[in-house]
Amino acid sequence: MTLGSALRNQFFSGGPRPAVSFFEMQKPMPELRFSESGCVSSQRVPGPLDLSRCFLPEALAGLVPVRALSEDDRRSLNQIRACSYLHLFDVFELSLSAAARQRARTDIEVREVLAPLLALDCFDHHDMFSSFESEFAAAFPATPRLVPLPDDFARTLTLAAPLSLLVLALHFKLVTQQHYLACVRGDESLEPHFVRVLKDHWCVECGAARSCSSALGVQQALGQALPGRVSAGLRDYRLLVFSCDDVLRRQSELDVQTLEEVRGNRLAPSDRTAVVAAQVAAHRKTFLTVGIVNAAFVYAMRTLGPTAPAMLAGVVSALSAR
Ligand SMILES: [Fe+2]
Repeated sequence: MTLGSALRNQFFSGGPRPAVSFFEMQKPMPELRFSESGCVSSQRVPGPLDLSRCFLPEALAGLVPVRALSEDDRRSLNQIRACSYLHLFDVFELSLSAAARQRARTDIEVREVLAPLLALDCFDHHDMFSSFESEFAAAFPATPRLVPLPDDFARTLTLAAPLSLLVLALHFKLVTQQHYLACVRGDESLEPHFVRVLKDHWCVECGAARSCSSALGVQQALGQALPGRVSAGLRDYRLLVFSCDDVLRRQSELDVQTLEEVRGNRLAPSDRTAVVAAQVAAHRKTFLTVGIVNAAFVYAMRTLGPTAPAMLAGVVSALSAR
């Protein structure tokens, strides 16, 4: 079984979706075991999920400006987006990890550049994310529609300069940290199981649960990049960001389709256009813009050369013009 088919099977398993009763929602939260670092010691997400709450913070969901939706629709779309949020992280990280391993297999120079990514065990993430997805699929009244492993993104990763893969890896690691620390931590209104998955993801990426391949390790590797590799690395990071944006667009459309299934009818055409546009903007901000303007990311990019910050500003403006 290929990596792609394994992932598809994982995320597209069908079957009935039992509704969560009011009684189940009132049951006390199952006790979680925390390690010394504060991370959940088990990757299993203990249900049931509380569907009376929002899952994503508004800073990531970006739903308040969408006037076309009722309050119930907004909460449903927030929950749909939470599921696709974890799925997209899984897709991007699995693709990145698989491409790094594949390319390092036959080229010693590539292996040297990508060394921090070769220690990355993305399947640990996959177990964590898929456990949540299973709980979500069991509780939510519609099957979430999720993008398959993107061939176009995988192809771009295969052709891009190795240094650009390292830059993208740092981007995602810092995005993960920023989402939890700046947007989620301390917000007691959010669904607690989802918050704990984000906390666990943050722990892994900042190195509390795993010291190798941490954001700091990738950052140090970038600081040692040979000057001759920087130009192609920056150019291809830009291409990878655009390729991610294409995936996010596809997921935005699928999110709205899932919402329409929950509603039991399609949105009016003008409302639908507005909702899809808002989803595209919110996904883009969540996964791309937040990372590009992250202070630690900009600092790390400066070590690559004086032109790097201007290149980042150019990527942000090119994204907004797409
Ligand atoms: Fe991750």
